[in-house]
Amino acid sequence: MTARPSVDYNGLISDEPSHFKVSGRLYHEPAVFDEEMDKIFHRGWVFVGHETEVSKAGDFATRMIGLQPVIMTRDKEDHLHMLMNRCRHRSATVCQEEYGNATSFQCPYHGWTYASNGDLTRVPFRSGIAGYLDSFRQEDYGLARVPRVGNYRGFIFASLSPKGVPFEEYLGRAAEYIDRYCDMAPDGEIFSTAGRHRMLVQSNWKLQVENLTDAYHVSFAHQSAIRRHDRDSSIVKVDDPRIYLRDIGGGHTVDDRFTGNRSLGEKATGRHTGGMGTLEPSVVAAVGERLGMKEAKRIAQGGPPHIMVFPNFMLLFNGYRMIQPVKPDLTYIYYYPTFLKGASEEVNLSRLRAQENAFGPGGFINPDDMDIFTRIQRGTDAQVDDWSVLDRSYDESMQTDEFGVPALTSQNLGETPQRAIWRHYKHVMMQS
Ligand code: FES
Ligand SMILES: [Fe+2]
Repeated sequence: MTARPSVDYNGLISDEPSHFKVSGRLYHEPAVFDEEMDKIFHRGWVFVGHETEVSKAGDFATRMIGLQPVIMTRDKEDHLHMLMNRCRHRSATVCQEEYGNATSFQCPYHGWTYASNGDLTRVPFRSGIAGYLDSFRQEDYGLARVPRVGNYRGFIFASLSPKGVPFEEYLGRAAEYIDRYCDMAPDGEIFSTAGRHRMLVQSNWKLQVENLTDAYHVSFAHQSAIRRHDRDSSIVKVDDPRIYLRDIGGGHTVDDRFTGNRSLGEKATGRHTGGMGTLEPSVVAAVGERLGMKEAKRIAQGGPPHIMVFPNFMLLFNGYRMIQPVKPDLTYIYYYPTFLKGASEEVNLSRLRAQENAFGPGGFINPDDMDIFTRIQRGTDAQVDDWSVLDRSYDESMQTDEFGVPALTSQNLGETPQRAIWRHYKHVMMQS
């Protein structure tokens, strides 16, 4: 017997020729949220962190996959583990800290103790008074493992389901954009060791998913930042026809400024990357040694990719972000600065300062979006005409991106990415 979807997603996501709209119920209803956690966050692939967040033996970071607590650890042998944060005795979480370094995790309830690789290493009063029988096998009670973990150039994704779409297939074309991001670094790797900013937003998680490749809002919602940049000829303009918005499949979308940024040529100081670093000559020269100067210049002038990887990973400018749903109207968004491996400390410090300036809690860009998400959530409480409309850029067409691969594309300020996200969402949510 096939289980039927409990919510009518066809009715809530209306996809007619040249007219697309979504119901506000999708941002509100507990039944929708519960089904999203099950089908998107617990059965699918989600982003969990970067391997350099736990770079030394004993390092750990606690995370949530959907609503389920996990610990990302690095053991003595330098292996990374993704473990369920749940004692195998009576289910208490064994690690309470966000980050740290520890030789073991001791459960606060009865003291069962686990190594960084998840093995159960100590059981208080194992034998003796009221102890366990000899048939009790300690080795059977290590922390449970997250069934599937994928690592792409240091970015760690996980799935709580042992089966389903393979990692490479899930990541799809996002991999090429992640490649180009990492290739900005002299050593071809980024690292993430500065911690993170955490924002708690009173809104639904999907508002951030839709927003990342919504270029239409930039000139209006981010007016203060735009005014600061207006006099600067090294910044590409928001209505530049050489910026494209692309649906690259799997719910992943791109705000593609590569051609627009490159058109600035040597004028592109790297400020469009949110920092002064990317065209810094020592960085370009070092990348050139690895990939050739022509390619190094191409990458540096194109600037970093700006990509939303469904459902919860964003890579852009000088950092990445992770979305963590909490309730239908409550979401954590984590902001992590990235550094270029092999670049000078000065370059990386300038990247960090620029990241804080734009996306820190008091930055010039981030608070605008957080406020807008809250207003949308409140606005959708008004339900007389309960629709959001996504009808821009129906002149979209298949066009090749910088990698020569066709993707459904509109020019900047379109809503092609938002329609792509909702179509993918509907496809996943309609599965039994
Ligand atoms: S619940 Fe963890 S030791 Fe008992
Ligand atoms: Fe924004």
